[in-house]
Amino acid sequence: MDKIKTLIDEETINNRIQELANEISFDYIGKEPVLVCILKGASYFFTDLTRRINTDSVIDFMRISSYEGDKSTGKVNIKLDLSTDIKDKDVLIVEDIIDTGITLSGLYDHLLEKNPKSIKLCVLLDKPERRESFDITPDYTGFVIPNRFVIGYGLDYDERYRNIPNISCITSDSDEIMEIDRNNIKKQLIKTKKNILH
Ligand code: IMP
Ligand code: MG
Repeated sequence: MDKIKTLIDEETINNRIQELANEISFDYIGKEPVLVCILKGASYFFTDLTRRINTDSVIDFMRISSYEGDKSTGKVNIKLDLSTDIKDKDVLIVEDIIDTGITLSGLYDHLLEKNPKSIKLCVLLDKPERRESFDITPDYTGFVIPNRFVIGYGLDYDERYRNIPNISCITSDSDEIMEIDRNNIKKQLIKTKKNILH
């Protein structure tokens, strides 16, 4: 029988989001970024992150898709576009996960046509082993995870499991779960703190 196993618990998610919010707040001092939530997957991350960002900002929402089930179709559809004019604005895309990178690369091209001043990318999760498109790299990353299909905290499998409060994966009894690299997370935290100090 399939089981759901926790990869990253709520406390670890919350602590890391506070670190990211500190870093983003520092980087955007004196600016008024447009914070863009990519629905539906980033919804939980976006609300938890943006309420901790303490620079003036505007929020907006987009919906794009390239996935069916657990497979990327490789084609990006804009299902809901921005309602804000981002011309000459600093844009921060907030996304749940970068996997192949195809979705975000397509999104990036779409937003560039609107002539923003800058576009940066914040992802909660990065699965670098699966990358196919190298056009775009995250400026802010919550956690680097192994090549597993993850659910919860906004992430779905065919629209299910989004409301699980932690980041989990579906595993069978015989399936050895891959531990996320705790040292890597610690290194990221130290790097973030350095960025704030300098
Ligand atoms: P990419 O185009 O392969 O980078 O895929 C990005 C999108 O695929 C994300 O915005 C997610 O919606 C979805 N996705 C990729 N990996 C996962 C996963 O492990 N769990 C749930 N959704 C995923
Ligand atoms: Mg998504």
